[in-house]
Amino acid sequence: MTLFEPAACQVDVAAGTMSGATGRYQKRLADLVGLYADDAAFQAALSMSNNPVVYDVADFRPSAKSGDLIFGITRMSPGLIGEEFYLTRGHIHAVADRPEIYYGQAGQGLMLMESPDGETRVVEMQAQTICYVPPYWIHRSVNTGTTDFVMVFSYPADSGQDYGIIEKSSGMRHRVLRGGPNGWQLAENKDYQPRSSAAIAAVMTS
Ligand SMILES: [Fe+2]
Repeated sequence: MTLFEPAACQVDVAAGTMSGATGRYQKRLADLVGLYADDAAFQAALSMSNNPVVYDVADFRPSAKSGDLIFGITRMSPGLIGEEFYLTRGHIHAVADRPEIYYGQAGQGLMLMESPDGETRVVEMQAQTICYVPPYWIHRSVNTGTTDFVMVFSYPADSGQDYGIIEKSSGMRHRVLRGGPNGWQLAENKDYQPRSSAAIAAVMTS
């Protein structure tokens, strides 16, 4: 058996990137159409800007084997669409029992999590906060600050991402809006469609 070579990636907190990445992608505002409550504000933001980058990701993927790890860094820009903070698309792992760790590097934000049966949990993140996303939780990052929100992450290499689970429910159950004692507050997503017991069971056995 040929062993995979050890690797080191240097995190650049200020730039929100790391060296040695094997993959990178970015999401601009136009890529996130339909995710925000206020569509008029979304269209206005798009027309008044040059389609800004909302977040970018650089990762290191040694393999896709079950015992391996993917790790990387994500940088989210600060911003609001109406009263709703910039967010990532969000997903559940395609192999739903795979967990994830996020490690805050800079800025202020949240990990917004939702169980298949619609429970919401929030972990507030800042530099040096480690967030454990347990198996089976849908997760999305939100920048609630006024500067870049940067986190390092790691998850099992065979996890995969299922973005459809959020789309099928017309979003996550809660939105994150400006307000509240810490600068953010949860609001019910009026379009939210709870999952059927069959859909929940399908996730829990995947
Ligand atoms: Fe994930």
